[in-house]
Amino acid sequence: MKKIAPSILSADFGRLAEEIQAVGEAGADWIHIDIMDGHFVPNLTIGPAVVKALRKTTSLPFDVHLMIEDPDRYLDAFIDAGSDFLTVHVETATHLHRTVAGIREKGVRAGVSLNPATPVSLLEEILPDCDLVLVMTVNPGFGGQKFIPSMLPKIRKIRGMMSSLERPPILEVDGGITLDNIRQASLAGADVFVAGAAVFGSGDYVGTIRAMKGKLEDNG
Ligand code: DX5
Ligand code: ZN
Repeated sequence: MKKIAPSILSADFGRLAEEIQAVGEAGADWIHIDIMDGHFVPNLTIGPAVVKALRKTTSLPFDVHLMIEDPDRYLDAFIDAGSDFLTVHVETATHLHRTVAGIREKGVRAGVSLNPATPVSLLEEILPDCDLVLVMTVNPGFGGQKFIPSMLPKIRKIRGMMSSLERPPILEVDGGITLDNIRQASLAGADVFVAGAAVFGSGDYVGTIRAMKGKLEDNG
C-alpha cells in the first residue's frame, strides 16, 4: 500500500503539535521530520528534544530524516526521542553498514538516503541490510523546491536493483512532490511520498492528501 508522508518542514513551526494532528486526521500515513544541522545542508531545523515532545501528539510513525554530518553522534538521541524510521545520508556515514546495523539493533527501522548527484551504485552492498531507501528528488536543505525530473530513471534503477531481494526495502521519494508528478514517481517504483509544501501550503490538507492518494490508485 502506497503512503503519503507530509514533511513538517513546511508546517507552521509555532503550532507543530496541531499541524501534526491535522495532517493525521487528513489521512497522512507517516510524519516526515527533517533534521538539518547547518553543515551538511545550509539550513537548521530541530533537534531530538522537539521530536520527543511531538511524539506525544500522534501515534503515526515518525519518519526521521537526518541531514547532518557525523550522524552516529546523534543516533541514540533520535532513537530515544521516538523515531520509527531513522534515515542517514550515504554521503555522511563513513561506516554506513555499522550505522545501519546500530539503528536496527535498537529496534528502529534504518533508512539510507542519496542526494540527487550520488550514484545508485553506492547502495549496492547496503541494500539487503536496510529497511528504507530515501531518494532525494531535490538537493536537500529547503522545502518548496522543484522536483528534478532526471530522478525518475534513478528511482526505476533502484527499484530494479531491489527486484532480486527477498525482502526489499521501502522506496521513498523526497522533494518537490506535487499532484502533477506523484503518479510518475509512483510508476517509477516509489512506495512512500514525502510532501511538504504541497500539503502544508495547500490550506486543504484533507483535499490534497485525498487527491494525492487518488493519483496513486491502480498502481500498487
Ligand atoms: C528537503 C527535505 C524534504 C522537504 C520536502 O531537504 O528533506 O523533506 O521538506 O519538502 P517539499 O515537498 O516542499 O519539497
Ligand atoms: Zn526529508
